[in-house]
Amino acid sequence: MTIKEALRQASKTLASGSIEDAPLEAELLLMHLLGIDRAKLYARLEDELSPGDAQAFAQLLKRRLSHEPIAYILGHREFFGHDFYVAPGVLIPRPESELLVEKALDFVKSEFPYRDPVIAEIGTGSGAIAISLALLLPNAKIYATDISPRALNIARVNCEKHGVQDRVYLLEGDLLDPLPEAVDIILANLPYIRDEELSELSAEIRMFEPMEALAGGRQGLDKVRQLLEEARGKLRPGGLILLEIGAGQGRAVVSLAKDLFPKARVELARDLAGRERVLSVTIP
Ligand SMILES: C[S@@+](CC[C@H](N)C(=O)[O-])C[C@H]1O[C@@H](n2cnc3c(N)ncnc32)[C@H](O)[C@@H]1O
Repeated sequence: MTIKEALRQASKTLASGSIEDAPLEAELLLMHLLGIDRAKLYARLEDELSPGDAQAFAQLLKRRLSHEPIAYILGHREFFGHDFYVAPGVLIPRPESELLVEKALDFVKSEFPYRDPVIAEIGTGSGAIAISLALLLPNAKIYATDISPRALNIARVNCEKHGVQDRVYLLEGDLLDPLPEAVDIILANLPYIRDEELSELSAEIRMFEPMEALAGGRQGLDKVRQLLEEARGKLRPGGLILLEIGAGQGRAVVSLAKDLFPKARVELARDLAGRERVLSVTIP
């Protein structure tokens, strides 16, 4: 079978298994298997696929047909223009979380012309957010925490991959507990899926991504509330809290933040799809 035929067949198989973007995913899986980029793949369309490669390709397709996310099969995902290692046990970074990075950068640019900020990302997962910030803010001191040792191991690999292991301090523990000092910015994409929505998540998410990265309790706000309650003791005056939220949670988190920080400026920022996505709380 030629590469072209293998791709056509794979694309049909994936489409019949309800995989969206089946032609693209078939190409990505074969490029991954053969260790080549798209240009090389297209140059080799008429080449024969060896029986060994054909068998290995069938195995990859089987994994994808079982709804294992393609990022876990390929072992990486892009975030904020950088490539991150991902594996089961860690949430696959989502493009909408880039808004957290953008908001933190805006704040640093406007509020820290003379001093280097201290930043804490809580629930860092793969480390994508903390590392993206570290790459753009070479003088910032960044703590990245997680309750999951498995996630921290993956974040460690990513810190080394991007050469920021001396500037991103990985700490294990519950929310703000592990922070050794007060910081200027606390940002987090904490679990915020409501209990009743967990069963409605796609098979890719429900069956493969870690539950401790998703489940946020009855209203989805258990961790968000806990972090806001703890933040007072761990934030410097003039500091900022940035929290990613889910659809329909805007009003509840604004009122929570206003109760806890009556003097703060409390705002919601929308993502590219126009959804309220990030709560920001600026302390006077
Ligand atoms: C939605 S994921 C976000 C991961 C990563 N920051 C990202 O945006 O791709 C939430 C992360 O919070 C971590 N987490 C859950 N509960 C936590 C807690 N109580 N304290 C610290 N981290 C927690 C999970 O292990 C998971 O890595």
